[in-house]
Amino acid sequence: MAHIDRAAARCYGGCMKRIGILNSGGDCAGLNAVIASVVKCGVPMGYGFVGFEHGWEGLLDSTYLDLSLDRVRGISHLGGTILRTANKGRFAGKVGSGDKNAIDPDVLKLARRNVDELELDGLIVIGGDGTISAAAQLAAYGVRLIGVPKTVDNDIASTDITFGFSTAVQVATDALDKIHTTAASQDRTFFVECMGRHAGWITLYAGLAGNANAILLPEFDFDADELINFLRIRRQAGKMSAIIAVSEGLRLQNQLTRRIGLSSSEMILGGASEKLMHLIEEQAPGEFEMRNVVLGHTQRGGTPNSQDRILAKRYGIEAMLAYDRGETDVMVAARNNDMVTVAIEKAIKGIKCVRHDTFEYRAATHLGIYVNS
Ligand code: F6P
Repeated sequence: MAHIDRAAARCYGGCMKRIGILNSGGDCAGLNAVIASVVKCGVPMGYGFVGFEHGWEGLLDSTYLDLSLDRVRGISHLGGTILRTANKGRFAGKVGSGDKNAIDPDVLKLARRNVDELELDGLIVIGGDGTISAAAQLAAYGVRLIGVPKTVDNDIASTDITFGFSTAVQVATDALDKIHTTAASQDRTFFVECMGRHAGWITLYAGLAGNANAILLPEFDFDADELINFLRIRRQAGKMSAIIAVSEGLRLQNQLTRRIGLSSSEMILGGASEKLMHLIEEQAPGEFEMRNVVLGHTQRGGTPNSQDRILAKRYGIEAMLAYDRGETDVMVAARNNDMVTVAIEKAIKGIKCVRHDTFEYRAATHLGIYVNS
């Protein structure tokens, strides 16, 4: 873990040290709470802040907001991000599932130059694996950096939990609760599609909390015959309705993915539940009256719940404290209910997936919920 001279951390030539904050990648609930906490913690310590707009693009174009205490007052409970964000552009640290993008050296040099011209001492960068990978590349150009992990999918391996996840699970759980009554009233089979590109944590947690009858995860193979069999057995037992929580990344042949224009650095998922519905209709024609609901970005938008607000505040404060301790090229991580820092290049190795021995996976199977395996 790299350190810089702590004594030099706050003052340079008698001036207040300025730190740039940016968030990049998709938004999620809790981003504003991180930003506000960094500033509220750092200003009394003698730091000043700017916030770059639209992620790395703001750093490259020098478009930023001055983040005073006044500017961050009253934002912690708000969804989205006052800095706005982007998951595309010259600095995209990822080009697809797990693929890391080597950023053009000229772009990295421009970012470095802008950091110097704005007389920034360093950056606090909030983002997922693509963003943190980009941050690691910029750190190699001598920019002082602290990373804060962000993923609604909660799949960054080096941290136990990320803000935004709990809110997303709550949104999906609330949806499942609502679907129960309509499904039961009309004897229907409902597929409720949750976010989760490579990891099914949102689906698993919401499915368990929201009493889904089946949970379908992207980590494991899927066998439509097994699911149909499960639904038939339920019917024979007099249970006429069923609710199936489905991860958007479920392994289905010809899963619908699309790229719309040049607007995203990753394939857009969404459509697993619809495809599944058609597949079941083909294999068991007329047996089940089916409907699907895609929760999509409702899971990422809106107000962070109390758990995510607290977690986001912890991340923001720990990032600021790590910066003030003189740490650099590290990412703040939650471990065993404590906050630690991990070397940035190690922080993005591997994603955290649901496993057969995951407690919630085992809990679901013990409760008679069908989970693909
Ligand atoms: O990776 C996080 C995630 O929320 C996925 O669950 C989802 O597929 C994706 O982002 C959506 O991204 P976009 O907002 O670019 O469509």
